Amino acid sequence: MLVSPSILSADWSRLDHAVHLAEEGADWLHCDVMDGHFVPNLTFGAPMVEALHRMTRLPLDVHLMIDDPLRFAPAFAKAGAHVLTLHVEAPGVAGPGWPAPVRSSGEGAAAADGGTAMPTPGAHAIDLALLRTTLARTRELGVKAGLALRPDTGLDEVEPVLDAIDLLLVMTVYPGFSGQTFLPGPLETIRRASGVRKARGLSFLIEVDGGIAAGDTAPQVAAAGADVVVAGHGIYRQADPVAAMRALKALVPGPAGAGTGA
Ligand code: DX5
Ligand code: ZN
Repeated sequence: MLVSPSILSADWSRLDHAVHLAEEGADWLHCDVMDGHFVPNLTFGAPMVEALHRMTRLPLDVHLMIDDPLRFAPAFAKAGAHVLTLHVEAPGVAGPGWPAPVRSSGEGAAAADGGTAMPTPGAHAIDLALLRTTLARTRELGVKAGLALRPDTGLDEVEPVLDAIDLLLVMTVYPGFSGQTFLPGPLETIRRASGVRKARGLSFLIEVDGGIAAGDTAPQVAAAGADVVVAGHGIYRQADPVAAMRALKALVPGPAGAGTGA
Protein backbone atom coordinates (compact mmCIF):
# COMPACT_ATOMS: atom_id res chain seq x y z
CA MET A 1 0.00 0.00 0.00
CA LEU A 2 1.20 3.51 -0.78
CA VAL A 3 0.68 5.94 2.10
CA SER A 4 -0.01 9.65 1.69
CA PRO A 5 -0.35 11.58 4.98
CA SER A 6 -2.46 14.73 4.74
CA ILE A 7 -0.41 17.70 5.92
CA LEU A 8 -3.70 19.49 6.71
CA SER A 9 -3.97 17.50 9.95
CA ALA A 10 -0.40 18.18 11.09
CA ASP A 11 0.69 20.80 13.61
CA TRP A 12 1.71 23.65 11.30
CA SER A 13 3.64 25.37 14.06
CA ARG A 14 6.06 22.44 13.60
CA LEU A 15 5.80 21.90 9.86
CA ASP A 16 9.37 20.66 9.49
CA HIS A 17 8.72 18.05 12.18
CA ALA A 18 5.53 16.97 10.40
CA VAL A 19 7.44 16.55 7.14
CA HIS A 20 10.20 14.59 8.84
CA LEU A 21 7.59 12.27 10.36
CA ALA A 22 6.15 11.66 6.89
CA GLU A 23 9.61 10.81 5.61
CA GLU A 24 9.81 8.04 8.21
CA GLY A 25 7.03 6.03 6.67
CA ALA A 26 5.15 7.69 3.81
CA ASP A 27 5.39 7.35 0.06
CA TRP A 28 3.76 10.67 -0.85
CA LEU A 29 2.66 13.81 0.98
CA HIS A 30 -1.00 14.78 0.48
CA CYS A 31 -1.75 18.51 0.11
CA ASP A 32 -5.43 19.50 0.50
CA VAL A 33 -6.10 22.71 -1.41
CA MET A 34 -9.53 24.27 -0.72
CA ASP A 35 -10.94 27.48 -2.15
CA GLY A 36 -13.86 28.21 0.21
CA HIS A 37 -16.26 27.86 -2.74
CA PHE A 38 -16.10 24.35 -4.16
CA VAL A 39 -15.90 23.25 -0.53
CA PRO A 40 -16.90 25.20 2.59
CA ASN A 41 -13.35 25.64 3.85
CA LEU A 42 -10.11 27.43 2.95
CA THR A 43 -6.64 25.98 3.30
CA PHE A 44 -3.56 26.92 1.26
CA GLY A 45 -2.29 27.47 -2.26
CA ALA A 46 0.81 26.95 -4.40
CA PRO A 47 3.26 28.81 -2.09
CA MET A 48 2.70 26.18 0.61
CA VAL A 49 3.27 23.38 -1.93
CA GLU A 50 6.43 25.13 -3.08
CA ALA A 51 7.68 25.36 0.52
CA LEU A 52 6.95 21.66 1.09
CA HIS A 53 8.78 20.84 -2.13
CA ARG A 54 11.86 22.57 -0.74
CA MET A 55 11.51 20.62 2.53
CA THR A 56 11.19 17.09 1.18
CA ARG A 57 11.81 14.75 -1.71
CA LEU A 58 8.49 12.97 -1.07
CA PRO A 59 6.27 13.27 -4.15
CA LEU A 60 3.58 15.88 -3.49
CA ASP A 61 0.07 14.55 -4.00
CA VAL A 62 -1.98 17.72 -4.53
CA HIS A 63 -5.76 17.41 -4.11
CA LEU A 64 -7.43 20.45 -5.65
CA MET A 65 -10.86 21.08 -4.11
CA ILE A 66 -11.38 24.23 -6.13
CA ASP A 67 -13.88 25.44 -8.73
CA ASP A 68 -11.50 26.12 -11.59
CA PRO A 69 -8.41 23.93 -11.18
CA LEU A 70 -6.90 24.62 -14.61
CA ARG A 71 -6.57 28.30 -13.71
CA PHE A 72 -4.19 27.41 -10.89
CA ALA A 73 -2.72 24.12 -12.17
CA PRO A 74 0.36 25.75 -13.78
CA ALA A 75 1.30 27.36 -10.46
CA PHE A 76 0.97 24.04 -8.62
CA ALA A 77 2.99 22.23 -11.30
CA LYS A 78 5.70 24.89 -11.04
CA ALA A 79 5.61 24.58 -7.25
CA GLY A 80 6.63 20.92 -7.55
CA ALA A 81 3.42 18.88 -7.52
CA HIS A 82 3.84 15.25 -8.58
CA VAL A 83 0.13 14.50 -8.98
CA LEU A 84 -2.57 17.13 -9.51
CA THR A 85 -6.00 15.73 -8.70
CA LEU A 86 -9.07 17.60 -9.94
CA HIS A 87 -12.67 17.03 -8.88
CA VAL A 88 -15.01 15.98 -11.66
CA GLU A 89 -17.78 17.91 -9.88
CA ALA A 90 -15.91 21.22 -10.18
CA PRO A 91 -17.54 23.57 -12.70
CA GLY A 92 -14.20 24.20 -14.42
CA VAL A 93 -13.60 20.47 -14.98
CA ALA A 94 -16.75 18.97 -16.40
CA GLY A 95 -19.07 21.85 -17.19
CA PRO A 96 -21.65 23.57 -15.03
CA GLY A 97 -21.31 21.13 -12.15
CA TRP A 98 -23.65 19.37 -9.84
CA PRO A 99 -26.70 21.01 -8.32
CA ALA A 100 -26.27 19.10 -5.06
CA PRO A 101 -24.30 21.20 -2.56
CA VAL A 102 -21.20 19.76 -0.97
CA ARG A 103 -21.97 18.37 2.47
CA SER A 104 -19.16 18.10 4.92
CA SER A 105 -19.00 18.54 8.63
CA GLY A 106 -16.44 20.62 10.50
CA GLU A 107 -13.13 19.57 11.92
CA GLY A 108 -13.54 16.64 14.27
CA ALA A 109 -17.31 16.45 13.92
CA ALA A 110 -19.10 13.24 12.99
CA ALA A 111 -21.82 13.40 10.33
CA ALA A 112 -25.27 13.84 11.88
CA ASP A 113 -26.57 10.82 10.01
CA GLY A 114 -23.80 8.59 11.30
CA GLY A 115 -22.04 8.77 7.98
CA THR A 116 -24.06 6.09 6.27
CA ALA A 117 -26.68 7.95 4.22
CA MET A 118 -25.80 8.55 0.57
CA PRO A 119 -27.66 11.44 -1.03
CA THR A 120 -29.05 11.07 -4.51
CA PRO A 121 -27.34 13.42 -6.95
CA GLY A 122 -29.60 15.79 -8.82
CA ALA A 123 -29.86 15.97 -12.60
CA HIS A 124 -26.55 16.79 -14.21
CA ALA A 125 -24.52 16.18 -17.32
CA ILE A 126 -20.77 15.91 -17.64
CA ASP A 127 -19.15 17.57 -20.62
CA LEU A 128 -16.88 14.60 -21.40
CA ALA A 129 -14.99 16.49 -24.10
CA LEU A 130 -14.16 19.26 -21.64
CA LEU A 131 -13.19 16.69 -19.03
CA ARG A 132 -10.84 14.91 -21.42
CA THR A 133 -9.27 18.20 -22.53
CA THR A 134 -8.82 19.28 -18.92
CA LEU A 135 -7.02 16.05 -18.04
CA ALA A 136 -4.81 16.33 -21.12
CA ARG A 137 -3.91 19.93 -20.25
CA THR A 138 -2.99 18.80 -16.75
CA ARG A 139 -0.62 16.15 -18.11
CA GLU A 140 0.89 18.72 -20.49
CA LEU A 141 2.09 20.56 -17.39
CA GLY A 142 4.42 17.62 -16.70
CA VAL A 143 2.45 16.24 -13.75
CA LYS A 144 0.35 13.12 -13.23
CA ALA A 145 -3.36 13.74 -13.72
CA GLY A 146 -5.70 12.60 -10.97
CA LEU A 147 -9.48 12.66 -11.02
CA ALA A 148 -11.46 12.79 -7.76
CA LEU A 149 -15.01 11.59 -7.12
CA ARG A 150 -17.17 12.80 -4.25
CA PRO A 151 -19.00 10.00 -2.38
CA ASP A 152 -22.19 10.72 -4.36
CA THR A 153 -20.54 10.55 -7.78
CA GLY A 154 -20.62 7.15 -9.46
CA LEU A 155 -17.80 5.59 -11.43
CA ASP A 156 -20.04 5.39 -14.49
CA GLU A 157 -19.84 9.20 -14.73
CA VAL A 158 -16.13 9.07 -15.54
CA GLU A 159 -15.67 5.62 -17.09
CA PRO A 160 -15.14 7.03 -20.60
CA VAL A 161 -12.05 8.98 -19.47
CA LEU A 162 -10.33 6.40 -17.28
CA ASP A 163 -7.74 5.93 -20.03
CA ALA A 164 -6.78 9.60 -19.61
CA ILE A 165 -5.90 9.55 -15.91
CA ASP A 166 -2.96 8.40 -13.81
CA LEU A 167 -4.92 8.30 -10.56
CA LEU A 168 -8.54 7.92 -9.46
CA LEU A 169 -9.22 9.48 -6.05
CA VAL A 170 -12.29 7.98 -4.39
CA MET A 171 -13.50 10.18 -1.53
CA THR A 172 -14.93 8.38 1.49
CA VAL A 173 -16.02 11.68 3.10
CA TYR A 174 -17.51 14.78 1.53
CA PRO A 175 -14.53 17.02 0.78
CA GLY A 176 -13.96 20.05 2.97
CA PHE A 177 -12.62 18.93 6.34
CA SER A 178 -10.35 16.37 7.91
CA GLY A 179 -11.54 14.30 10.84
CA GLN A 180 -14.92 13.26 9.38
CA THR A 181 -16.54 9.85 9.66
CA PHE A 182 -15.73 7.31 6.91
CA LEU A 183 -18.61 6.61 4.51
CA PRO A 184 -18.77 2.96 3.38
CA GLY A 185 -20.83 3.58 0.21
CA PRO A 186 -17.79 4.38 -2.02
CA LEU A 187 -16.26 0.95 -1.26
CA GLU A 188 -18.35 -0.25 -4.19
CA THR A 189 -16.81 2.46 -6.41
CA ILE A 190 -13.33 1.22 -5.45
CA ARG A 191 -14.27 -2.39 -6.27
CA ARG A 192 -15.75 -1.39 -9.60
CA ALA A 193 -12.79 0.81 -10.51
CA SER A 194 -10.45 -2.05 -9.74
CA GLY A 195 -12.50 -4.39 -11.93
CA VAL A 196 -12.80 -1.93 -14.83
CA ARG A 197 -9.08 -1.23 -14.71
CA LYS A 198 -8.29 -4.91 -15.04
CA ALA A 199 -10.90 -5.54 -17.72
CA ARG A 200 -9.65 -2.65 -19.85
CA GLY A 201 -5.95 -3.18 -19.20
CA LEU A 202 -5.53 0.29 -17.67
CA SER A 203 -2.94 1.23 -15.07
CA PHE A 204 -4.24 4.21 -13.07
CA LEU A 205 -3.77 4.03 -9.33
CA ILE A 206 -6.79 4.00 -7.00
CA GLU A 207 -6.39 6.36 -4.05
CA VAL A 208 -8.86 6.62 -1.18
CA ASP A 209 -9.25 9.70 1.03
CA GLY A 210 -11.35 10.43 4.11
CA GLY A 211 -11.69 8.83 7.53
CA ILE A 212 -8.94 6.27 6.90
CA ALA A 213 -7.51 4.60 10.01
CA ALA A 214 -5.13 1.67 10.15
CA GLY A 215 -7.24 -0.46 12.47
CA ASP A 216 -10.64 -0.43 10.81
CA THR A 217 -11.40 1.47 7.63
CA ALA A 218 -8.03 1.02 5.88
CA PRO A 219 -8.31 -2.80 5.65
CA GLN A 220 -11.75 -2.36 4.05
CA VAL A 221 -10.45 -0.03 1.33
CA ALA A 222 -7.41 -2.24 0.77
CA ALA A 223 -9.64 -5.29 0.30
CA ALA A 224 -11.78 -3.31 -2.15
CA GLY A 225 -8.72 -2.58 -4.31
CA ALA A 226 -7.14 0.69 -3.12
CA ASP A 227 -3.47 1.21 -3.97
CA VAL A 228 -2.93 4.49 -2.08
CA VAL A 229 -4.46 5.62 1.20
CA VAL A 230 -4.60 9.21 2.41
CA ALA A 231 -4.85 9.78 6.15
CA GLY A 232 -4.93 12.98 8.17
CA HIS A 233 -6.22 12.25 11.65
CA GLY A 234 -5.34 8.57 11.16
CA ILE A 235 -1.66 9.56 11.09
CA TYR A 236 -1.00 13.03 12.48
CA ARG A 237 -3.49 12.85 15.36
CA GLN A 238 -2.21 9.48 16.56
CA ALA A 239 0.11 9.04 19.53
CA ASP A 240 2.63 7.37 17.22
CA PRO A 241 2.27 8.70 13.65
CA VAL A 242 5.15 6.61 12.33
CA ALA A 243 3.62 3.39 13.68
CA ALA A 244 0.30 4.39 12.09
CA MET A 245 2.00 4.91 8.71
CA ARG A 246 3.77 1.56 8.97
CA ALA A 247 0.48 -0.21 9.78
CA LEU A 248 -1.10 1.36 6.67
CA LYS A 249 1.96 0.51 4.58
CA ALA A 250 1.67 -3.17 5.54
CA LEU A 251 -1.81 -3.49 4.00
CA VAL A 252 -1.95 -5.38 0.73
CA PRO A 253 -4.20 -4.08 -2.05
CA GLY A 254 -6.59 -6.65 -3.38
CA PRO A 255 -8.12 -8.42 -5.15
CA ALA A 256 -7.69 -7.09 -8.67
CA GLY A 257 -4.09 -6.01 -8.18
CA ALA A 258 -2.32 -2.67 -8.13
CA GLY A 259 -2.07 -0.25 -10.99
CA THR A 260 1.20 1.22 -12.12
CA GLY A 261 0.07 4.59 -13.40
CA ALA A 262 1.49 7.17 -10.99
C1 DX5 B 1 -10.99 16.14 2.98
C2 DX5 B 1 -9.56 16.01 2.54
C3 DX5 B 1 -8.86 14.85 3.19
C4 DX5 B 1 -8.71 14.99 4.67
C5 DX5 B 1 -8.29 13.69 5.27
O1 DX5 B 1 -11.59 17.15 2.24
O2 DX5 B 1 -9.49 15.83 1.15
O3 DX5 B 1 -7.62 14.62 2.57
O4 DX5 B 1 -7.77 15.98 5.00
O5 DX5 B 1 -8.39 13.77 6.65
P1 DX5 B 1 -8.87 12.53 7.53
O6 DX5 B 1 -7.96 11.38 7.18
O7 DX5 B 1 -8.70 13.03 8.92
O8 DX5 B 1 -10.29 12.24 7.14
ZN1 ZN C 1 -7.57 15.14 0.32
